[in-house]
Amino acid sequence: MSAKNGARRVRVVAKGPILVEGPVDVERSDGTTLHCDRFQVAICACGFSTTPPLCDASHRRILRRRRD
Ligand code: FES
Repeated sequence: MSAKNGARRVRVVAKGPILVEGPVDVERSDGTTLHCDRFQVAICACGFSTTPPLCDASHRRILRRRRD
């Protein structure tokens, strides 16, 4: 949900992705742009996603492995 002042809300999930309200254009490090139409987009913050810059839930597998 947007903040009251109309600003786009970005939520940082502990040990997980960064959730951004969509639709949004994500600019990759190589300069290309990924357009996402979803109402919420999960950006990988762990560096283990197989579909960067989007989160593919690989962070869960990594956390599980570290707990075991
Ligand atoms: S934060 Fe989910 S795969 Fe990286």
